[in-house]
Amino acid sequence: MKETNLLKNQAYINGIWTGAASGKTFEVTNPATGEVIATVPDLDRSDVQKAIDAASAAWPAYRDRTAKERAALLRRWYDLMVEHKEELAYLMTIESGKVMTESLGEVQYGASFIEWFSEEAKRAYGDVIPAHSKDRRLVVIKQSIGVVAAITPWNFPLAMITRKVGPALAAGSPVVVKVPSETPLTGLAIAYLAEQAGFPKGVYNTVTSANSSEVGKELCENKKVRKLSFTGSTPVGKILMEQSASSLKKLSLELGGNAPFIVFEDADLEAAVQGALVSKFRHNGQTCVCVNRILVQEGVYEAFVEKFTQAVRGLKTGNVLDKEVQVGPLIHQKALKKVQEHIQDAVQKGATVTTGGEKIEGLFFQPTVLANATPAMLIAREEVFGPVAPIFRFKTEEEAIQMANDTEYGLASYFYSRDVNRCWRVAEALEYGMVGINEGLISTELAPFGGIKESGFGREGSKYGMDYFMEIKYLCFGGVAKQ
Ligand code: SIN
Repeated sequence: MKETNLLKNQAYINGIWTGAASGKTFEVTNPATGEVIATVPDLDRSDVQKAIDAASAAWPAYRDRTAKERAALLRRWYDLMVEHKEELAYLMTIESGKVMTESLGEVQYGASFIEWFSEEAKRAYGDVIPAHSKDRRLVVIKQSIGVVAAITPWNFPLAMITRKVGPALAAGSPVVVKVPSETPLTGLAIAYLAEQAGFPKGVYNTVTSANSSEVGKELCENKKVRKLSFTGSTPVGKILMEQSASSLKKLSLELGGNAPFIVFEDADLEAAVQGALVSKFRHNGQTCVCVNRILVQEGVYEAFVEKFTQAVRGLKTGNVLDKEVQVGPLIHQKALKKVQEHIQDAVQKGATVTTGGEKIEGLFFQPTVLANATPAMLIAREEVFGPVAPIFRFKTEEEAIQMANDTEYGLASYFYSRDVNRCWRVAEALEYGMVGINEGLISTELAPFGGIKESGFGREGSKYGMDYFMEIKYLCFGGVAKQ
């Protein structure tokens, strides 16, 4: 790495790089090799309270800065991330197993939220409402919500941080980021760049801990934290929501998914194969918006299975630092076991493995396609979070919609069709927060990311993103009528 200062092994609280008061640490492991690559502080609740106190103390001065000043800080931070994209991508790859090309993509994607919200900072407009009586004037202003906590996942070590802290910092709120125990290094590296960008002390804090539930509890229950934004599993999201009830904390929850990918008979089959491939195997199937179920209409079922199987066989697995490699390891043993269980269950219930199906070595698993999948299989209901693509069969548009919506989740969905009327009908009928129509990769800072049903609530990115980190205040001016 060119810039060794980016490799941090301490937490960042109140402008100071620090260890845990207890002195405890935990190890960070490279999932591709099993090597220990760093040790970082194992903070407990009392350490996290210090970060919250620092953020709370920094709030008044930070929110009173002009939007233009906050925008300039964010812009500097964005420029630094882009300048250091190779080092950030390297750290991301060695701690998460994400292949290098995808890590470089994530740095750019993650930084784009900071660029976007540096621009949005200056556009947090309010409203003037036509009044209901002559002597009054009604105005709406938007104000910073206060301290924001962000709990972020290992699958996007950078972008899930920036997507949350971007709007918070733009709106005038200090942040406390709990980085994942599997991948803390990228989060610490961008904390260092935030320091270099000039954020005042206490405005940007990053905590590391192996005890996520204890830290989560503090962030939920502490009354100084006014907003919590979490990306992770639905069961953990439900726990955080329960724990936040005592302080009636505002929440954004971006939780699990069970994304359907529907291929209609009128689809461009080649495009559908490519769309399914990139969506399914992004970060080895370990994203919340990865295709979980491929639903194919009976007339093109065999042709799709054949073409898709060929495409999956062509994926290159191996050294994650090699820019030619497309598929890396799974994050940990538990993830590998889940993949194996899903395949075993599907095969027992009649699925056919058309390619893959075996562990390679360490945490690497062959990209796998399962034909003849049915709704009775575990994989139809649970998020696989791994390199397994089950292909289901359907007869009619109505049946496809029913199958696609038959899940408690509602994050991302996709379908391929060349019939414009069908495109409208199906897009409106899918019970999901996001729909890709003839497109398998839909994430961008410009559009609202988020789900419905048990995939959570709140939207990140886009012109809507700031609203989730601001309070709306109504001002009623009386006695305005002429004397
Ligand atoms: C996620 O998997 O949680 C995020 C995926 C994305 O931003 O595209």
